[in-house]
Amino acid sequence: MYDNKDNICILAIESSCDDTGAAVVVNGKIQSNVVATQEVHRQYGGVIPEMASRAHLQNLIPVIDLAMKKAGITMQDLSAVAYARGPGLMGSLLVGSAYARSVSMALNIPCIGIDHLKAHVLAHFIDEPMPEFPFLCLLVSGGHTQIIKVSSFQNMEILGQTRDDAAGEAFDKTAKMLGLPYPGGPLIDRYAQKGDPLKYTFGISKLEGYDFSFSGFKTSVLYFLRDQVKENANFIEQELPHICASIQHHIVKSLLKNFRQAAIDCGIKEVALAGGVSANSALRSAFTQMAEKQVWRSYIPAFEYCTDNAAMIAIAAHYAHLEGIFDAKVAIPFARHV
Ligand code: KG4
Ligand code: ZN
Repeated sequence: MYDNKDNICILAIESSCDDTGAAVVVNGKIQSNVVATQEVHRQYGGVIPEMASRAHLQNLIPVIDLAMKKAGITMQDLSAVAYARGPGLMGSLLVGSAYARSVSMALNIPCIGIDHLKAHVLAHFIDEPMPEFPFLCLLVSGGHTQIIKVSSFQNMEILGQTRDDAAGEAFDKTAKMLGLPYPGGPLIDRYAQKGDPLKYTFGISKLEGYDFSFSGFKTSVLYFLRDQVKENANFIEQELPHICASIQHHIVKSLLKNFRQAAIDCGIKEVALAGGVSANSALRSAFTQMAEKQVWRSYIPAFEYCTDNAAMIAIAAHYAHLEGIFDAKVAIPFARHV
């Protein structure tokens, strides 16, 4: 279909955690974006790495086939192949990277390893409106919580981050205490819709600078529930919406407090949300309200580009391709940043 070699046509793969994704981008426009979410982890209350790798092996080829079909292209049309290189689960990353590097060798096209966190940030360049550089991004996912100053497609500086649990973990782990299945974040969001966010108070650490800490908060929720359940065995069942709304309120408040201060200190008026937790309805509306109040321009990705997806890998790869940034002959996935 794309016989003109001036087109940049990239197949991108995301396999860093428990979502198997494939997407096709042509000249910076997403043509398809397919995600298979692994249900196998639900029964265990968290992601089991070995099971995630095996599920990626099963899902990857069908997901790629569908993404190629939806985009109306064949392997011969590709100018490059991209994959999430890290951070993430090593076994899961290896599945996507081994596939991408094989395609690259077989077709003699460049391979582009993409940083998963940078890709979350660059999801803002999938659809209009797009932020202008420099912008400040609050990246909140299941594994990371960072305030990032984004100066260009490649140049990003972390101004603050969590010292322990990520915001997504704070949602998922407190949800688990409430007996909710993994991942609990979306369920807390749903139950919170009918609850009073100010009904219950929990302790939450305030650190110097822009860093976050959620482990004390988690313990505070744990002890609160233990004490309440001692008095009334049905406490969680009866109060679920209020507990969820209160948990959500504390997490959102803590995130926005540091972020607002960082934006003020940097004098940046373009602000953006990214990562799975940016699907949270309370965070989305509080973020928008904060920006309106400060007269900042705010950007929040569409829901499908908040949680893990390959379209964000594809768009990041498109901009890397424009700058001629390709993998060296040996490029090994990395589980975490060093
Ligand atoms: O970015 P992501 O899909 O994967 C990682 O890179 O970690 O983020 C997953 C996280 C999970 O912790 C999940 O509970 C959380 O995003 N999440 C939410 C919501 N949707 C997803 N947390 C709160 N409210 C939501 N609506
Ligand atoms: Zn992610």
